[in-house]
Amino acid sequence: MKEQLRQLKEEFLCLVEKVTDPEALETLKTEFLGRKGKLNAIMKEMASLAVDERRLVGKLANEVKEAIEASYGEARGKAEKAKKAEKAGWERIDVTQPIIPERGTGHLHPVTQVQEELEDLFTSMGFMIADGPELESDYFNFTTLNIPPTHPARDMQDTFYIEGYPGLVMRTHTSPVQIRAMRKWGVPLRMVAPGRCFRNESTDPRHEHTFHQLEGMVIDKGISLAHMKGVLERVAQHLYGKDTKVRMRPKFYPFVEPGVNGEVTCFLCKGEGCRLCKKTGWLEIFGAGMVHPSVLREGGVDPKEYSGFAFGFGLTRLVMLKYGIDDIRHLESGDIRFLKQF
Ligand code: PHE
Repeated sequence: MKEQLRQLKEEFLCLVEKVTDPEALETLKTEFLGRKGKLNAIMKEMASLAVDERRLVGKLANEVKEAIEASYGEARGKAEKAKKAEKAGWERIDVTQPIIPERGTGHLHPVTQVQEELEDLFTSMGFMIADGPELESDYFNFTTLNIPPTHPARDMQDTFYIEGYPGLVMRTHTSPVQIRAMRKWGVPLRMVAPGRCFRNESTDPRHEHTFHQLEGMVIDKGISLAHMKGVLERVAQHLYGKDTKVRMRPKFYPFVEPGVNGEVTCFLCKGEGCRLCKKTGWLEIFGAGMVHPSVLREGGVDPKEYSGFAFGFGLTRLVMLKYGIDDIRHLESGDIRFLKQF
């Protein structure tokens, strides 16, 4: 009888390999384990055994049953997954299939193109590329940047808070990467951090809840506003041509002192004044300033020894200016008719 049981198991394991259809597997299992199945047929003979022997055979029968059930379960799981994949039509990739020409190949999103172009420029100037989370802590997004919980400056950047997680926000700017980078790499530091940001805006042609920025930071001994102007001029000339000028006008940001609004000569009218620059001859493209001493301290840097500057470009805005896009909402729409143009 023991031999019969062992054979039964072997037989099942052998057969189960060949069946790939979930229903056929079910039938196979019934054939072995069902009420009128093969296992029960063997067990019927148990009554004729001595008590000790019966106990041993009973134990073995249980093991066989468990082994059959386990391998059935495994095969069934596989079969169902394969069936689903087949239905969905993916997971099976036919590498020999000819390309459908009218579908063509895709290309990078215009924001990604501008981002990569700037990454190349900055790495050529010795900047490293840093990264930070989009779901950021309230602490890094605001508090470490000199915007304590009750400060009215929090109103400048209303954001999305996460239900059930009071300490977390969707980051409103890439500036929290300043702190993360200082803490991680220390000083001297030269980094840029491109990335996605979020604000609680009612959307219109100029406002969107999701957009992209590129943050930059340089910290070393003896860094001044003049260094900052030099770097930003270099960037502006790369983007808009050799004759482009940069001007800086005072602007309040809690994490810099002094803080500036950076403008470049309008590339369309070359500073004459036109519709794009609203007749001023200048385009606002970045916020910047000398890193505030308390922000340096938050990053573990001694403001008596080191100084630095930081800036933030709106990548989305750069793309809009570059291509004359009049509605920011196109950029996150995923509309292929729009994206195809770039
Ligand atoms: N984080 C600011 C913003 O989103 C821009 C900025 C970056 C300003 C760095 C100063 C220094 O508006």
